[in-house]
Amino acid sequence: MYICPVCKKRLKKLDNVLHCQNGHSFDIARKGYVNLLTTVKRNPKNSGDNTEMVKARTSFLDKNYYLPLAQKIAKTAKDSLKSKKEPMIIDSGCGEGFYTCVYAQALSDAQIFGIDISKAAISHCMTRVHLSGITNCEFAVASSFELPFIKECADMVISTFAPVSNDEYARVLKSGGKLIVVSPSPKHLIELKRAAYDKPYENKPNVYGLNKFELSSEQIFEYTQNIASTQDILDLFSMTPYYYKTSAEGIQRLKKLDSIEVTCGFCIQVYTKKKF
Ligand SMILES: C[S@@+](CC[C@H](N)C(=O)[O-])C[C@H]1O[C@@H](n2cnc3c(N)ncnc32)[C@H](O)[C@@H]1O
Ligand SMILES: [Zn+2]
Repeated sequence: MYICPVCKKRLKKLDNVLHCQNGHSFDIARKGYVNLLTTVKRNPKNSGDNTEMVKARTSFLDKNYYLPLAQKIAKTAKDSLKSKKEPMIIDSGCGEGFYTCVYAQALSDAQIFGIDISKAAISHCMTRVHLSGITNCEFAVASSFELPFIKECADMVISTFAPVSNDEYARVLKSGGKLIVVSPSPKHLIELKRAAYDKPYENKPNVYGLNKFELSSEQIFEYTQNIASTQDILDLFSMTPYYYKTSAEGIQRLKKLDSIEVTCGFCIQVYTKKKF
C-alpha cells in the first residue's frame, strides 16, 4: 500500500526493509513503524509534536476525557462507511494514537493506517497498539501533504485537529470515498479561556478550502467534563493552540486551579469526494 516518498513507486517489504524498484529503501523500526519522510523533509523545525508535547497529550488522553469524542467519531465513521467490508482508513495527523486505537477496536474488520509527521508521536502509537493487542493498524512517519499511499486506495480519511490537505486526501480516496474532519466548536474549552484570559473569545470555524469534496453532514458534539487535577488542566491547555499565545500570568492563573468543569465541543464534518 505504501509508496516511495522519493520516486512514488510502490514499496515492497523484504525482511525488515521497504524497497522500491529504484533502489530507495526504508527500514522498519524495531517498534514496527516506518519513517517515510525523505531526509530533506526531516526538518526538526517542521516535525510536528515533540516528545514533551506527545507526553502531555498521552497523559491527558489516557484519562479518557476525550473518549466520548473518539467513540462518536468511530460511530460516525461506521455509519458513513455503511456496511463496507474491510474498509481501508487513513488517520491523517494521528498524533500518539489514542483515537486510532479506538477506531481500530470499533471497526475491527477495517485496516487502519496512522500517519503523523512527528516521529515521537508515531513511536508512541506502536506502544499503544502493542499494549492493547491491536493488530489492524499500521503506522508511518509521513506528512499529510505528501501521503505515502497509492492513489484511490482508501475508503476514508479521518483528520482530527490536524492539518488538512484537499489534494492529497482526494488523491488517495476511492471514488465516493469519505473524509471526516474534526475541529473545535466555538465553545470548546471556553471555561479554560475564561480562567486564563481577561477577554476570552470563542473559536472561529476553520476554513479548509476542500473544493474536491462535498460536505455531506456537519454536527456539533458537546459535553462537559470535570478536569480533575492541576496537572490535567495544564496538559490539556498545552494541547491547544492558545498555549503558546498565553502570558506567563495566564499560565499562573491556571496553575492555581485544582479542577475545572469545561465544555468539550467539537465540529464533526463528513465530506464525500466529488466525482470528476
Ligand atoms: C493537535 S495534534 C492532533 C493529534 C491527534 N489527531 C489527536 O487529536 O490527538 C496535531 C498533530 O498533527 C501533526 N502534524 C503537524 N503537521 C503535520 C503534517 N504536515 N503532516 C502530518 N501530521 C502533522 C502533529 O505532529 C500532531 O501530532
Ligand atoms: Zn523510490
